[in-house]
Amino acid sequence: MSNLVLEAKNISKSFTDGKTTVEVIKNLSLEVKKGEFVSIVGSSGSGKSTLLHVLGGLDCPTAGQVFLNGKRFDNLGEAERGYLRNQHLGFVYQFHHLLPEFTALENVAMPLMLRAGTTYKQSKEQAEYLLNRVGLSHRMTHKPGELSGGERQRVALARALVAKPELMLADEPTGNLDRKTAVKIFELLSELRDEFNMAMLIVTHDEQLAQTADSILHMQDGVWIDG
Ligand SMILES: Nc1ncnc2c1ncn2[C@@H]1O[C@H](COP(=O)(O)OP(=O)(O)O)[C@@H](O)[C@H]1O
Ligand SMILES: [Mg+2]
Repeated sequence: MSNLVLEAKNISKSFTDGKTTVEVIKNLSLEVKKGEFVSIVGSSGSGKSTLLHVLGGLDCPTAGQVFLNGKRFDNLGEAERGYLRNQHLGFVYQFHHLLPEFTALENVAMPLMLRAGTTYKQSKEQAEYLLNRVGLSHRMTHKPGELSGGERQRVALARALVAKPELMLADEPTGNLDRKTAVKIFELLSELRDEFNMAMLIVTHDEQLAQTADSILHMQDGVWIDG
């Protein structure tokens, strides 16, 4: 059996706007082992979000293949990709993407409620556990608009992890936070990684935080460069 949770082979991604085609990701390959923490560093516009979306099955590559636990993932239909994402992946967006009209608890419980075979009670209990774990037991019934930036990002982490994913993909999860809060979030992520035995692929601007990973990849104009 393969020890890779994620494998991308020769990924390219282009966007076509009228007559112009821009190749954002150029023939990139990447491996994430089970339980491994990999960070990606690159300046703005280098293609990090585009890559993460392709790896997480939110978008399709123009060329190349993505394998999740050894199974080809990128060429599946949207519904099946959504199902596998819900089963195996947790995604943290740069701008939390929490639903404003729902409480922190409801936002976190949502991925589990969408799962067949999970009861409302189980979803709620697991969401409570995660919110407690990220230090927000006193904010369960608050809506995103009533929370600080750091708190919202903690809720987003709790939501990404509520279904105990094997791999968490995070797109600049601390990009909008002050340094002290960012360091705390990384420490928390490291603890949760040990607790859930999960792999993490994190995009960050912060070279120092990136250094806490098992391996670091540097990206520029859609290709890997030497760090
Ligand atoms: N949907 C899209 N259509 C056209 N161009 C896009 C699209 N998404 C991203 N791009 C372009 O791809 C490049 C990389 O974007 P992005 O992946 O967001 O970079 P990063 O996350 O590293 O800042 C940018 O030049 C951006 O304009
Ligand atoms: Mg980005």
